[in-house]
Amino acid sequence: MRGMRIASRMDTIGTETAFEAAARARALEATGRSVIHLEIGEPDFDTPSNIREAAKRALDAGFTHYPPYFGLPALREAIAADASARKDISVKADHVVVTPGAKPVMYYAMLALIEPGDEVIVPDPGYPIYESMVRFAGGTPIPLPIRQEREFRADLDELESLVTKRTRMLVLNSPANPTGGLFTREDIVRIAELALRHDLIVLADEIYGRIIYEGEHVSIASIPGMLERTIILDGFSKTYAMTGWRLGYAILPDVLLYPFGRLIINSVSGTSAFSQMAAVEALTGPQAEVEAMVAEFKVRRDLIVDGLNAIPGVRCIQPHAAFYVFPDISGTGLDGAELADRLLHEAGVSVLAGTAFGQIGRDHIRVSYANSQANIIEALARIRSVVQPIVAARG
Ligand SMILES: Cc1ncc(COP(=O)(O)O)c(C=O)c1O
Repeated sequence: MRGMRIASRMDTIGTETAFEAAARARALEATGRSVIHLEIGEPDFDTPSNIREAAKRALDAGFTHYPPYFGLPALREAIAADASARKDISVKADHVVVTPGAKPVMYYAMLALIEPGDEVIVPDPGYPIYESMVRFAGGTPIPLPIRQEREFRADLDELESLVTKRTRMLVLNSPANPTGGLFTREDIVRIAELALRHDLIVLADEIYGRIIYEGEHVSIASIPGMLERTIILDGFSKTYAMTGWRLGYAILPDVLLYPFGRLIINSVSGTSAFSQMAAVEALTGPQAEVEAMVAEFKVRRDLIVDGLNAIPGVRCIQPHAAFYVFPDISGTGLDGAELADRLLHEAGVSVLAGTAFGQIGRDHIRVSYANSQANIIEALARIRSVVQPIVAARG
């Protein structure tokens, strides 16, 4: 039927396998199997109660209408103040654009800036939507290998070798999904030098910037000369356990305000008004629950790293941030996709194949430890029950 022929641009769009893997795991659960979910990247905590109460008050106060398309002034002010304090930059509220989740910032940035033929350097392994959106916008993603041997920090000589006359943008994600990797200040300074020298735009995905156990988060926008060429992507999903609220934001150079405004008006009109009032409370209210969440994630990080390293065939470094580990499982003789499949079907543990994030992750799985300590302990025992016989059989 010609009327329902799908447009060819849909051939270029990718996906985020975590959502599909979660659906598969839930389908298995529906048959009565017990499944431990270590696939999806979302805090298992509830949104703090002061934030939920603020949303309820906002609903009763009439925040039920179309909000301004760039976001409520109170929230843009609060984000500007918070970002100025935390990211070592001076942000004006006019440069803050609120979005329904942080994800649309990737979409809008690519649509606004990337022309066919433009190259965009994306981390590999990296969040899959970067590559998907580059292709959808007609550009060419150029994978930047991120390896376990380098503690999941890029080799910056290798990065420089990937820059060509066609390179327009570099996507930087530190702290990183799926590896938990964290670039050092020296790394960020060098990447900034490179961006300035080659006239690159940087999309800086800083969504895990507050979930750090050792070291510091350095925003590349804080390096002199970079604020004008950086799109900061950040949001509430991870820091405040607000994935379901759909709340994120961009901090933009002047020139991007008009295209982002147009894209918002053409797609979503704006971000839910009462959610935005909850976000004001998130930023300006007490932060003790964020600190408690991060402290709990750190305990779980140690638990999962030690537990995985005690399983034969598995090598896992201790990441300094976010809530993921990305162990090398080549010692099992399986690749990440095969192991993820067997873990789900034989042991009821749902993890992701490393290739969900690019080709470099072939011998890895991604494990999210945003789950209770009890579930992590049980999952480790189940993983061992699958992996140990496989490794023993290899001799
Ligand atoms: C690196 C990274 N950026 C952005 C997002 C998307 O965040 P949001 O749910 O706010 O759209 C995620 C979510 O998994 C992520 O891991």
